[in-house]
Parts: sequence; structure tokens; C-alpha cells
Amino acid sequence: MPWIKACSVDDLEPGGEGVRVDVDPPIAVFNVDGEFYAIDDTCSHGQSSLAEGYVEGCTVECNWHFAKFDLRTGRALCLPATVDLRTYPVRVEGGEVYVEVTESIAATLSDIV
Ligand code: FES
Repeated sequence: MPWIKACSVDDLEPGGEGVRVDVDPPIAVFNVDGEFYAIDDTCSHGQSSLAEGYVEGCTVECNWHFAKFDLRTGRALCLPATVDLRTYPVRVEGGEVYVEVTESIAATLSDIV
């Protein structure tokens, strides 16, 4: 499956900050103490962007209704979310962060300016 460039390592502070990658569906990439995680950006409870959520350890909390998801597995950890999110393999190379996505997601990258 294709790898897409998500961001630069320098774009993400290690404290759990997230960036949104504008593909369809959007993907959020987080840096947790030097470990990078990629997960569906859209909360499974609503339309909130998890890249803007609050990260603690390996969980992200949605800033709308406070559902939490495990960044490693995508698992929904508490209500109101009941549906898990997808996670994506991440690799860091040459100071850039790459995410492995499906062909159909990669195809949306060029559609978005
Ligand atoms: S939209 Fe995320 S918890 Fe409701």
C-alpha cells in the first residue's frame, strides 16, 4: 500500500501535539515523546477533529464530548464513542513522517489543494 508524506518531524512537538492530514478520510498524526501515531482524524461519535484533541500518554480525548481513543490501536476507550477508529503504520525517514494508507485514501491526496 502507498506511503504518503504526512508532515515533517519538526511540525510536531513531542508533547502529544497533533496535525491533520487532508486526505479523505482525514488522518491525525501525533508525536508522543518521539513516537509517532496515525489515526482517523474524525471522532467516531461526531465530526470533531482529533488532531485538535487533548493527548495524555497514548490516548487522545475528543474536545467535543470527551470520548477517548487509544492512539496505538484506535480503540474507543469511553463513552460517548463506541466505534473504534482506524490506525495507520507510520515511518520516519529523513526528518519526514510518512503514513501508509490504502490506495483509495492516497488517491484523495491529489484532489485536495
Ligand atoms: S464528537 Fe467526539 S465525543 Fe462527540
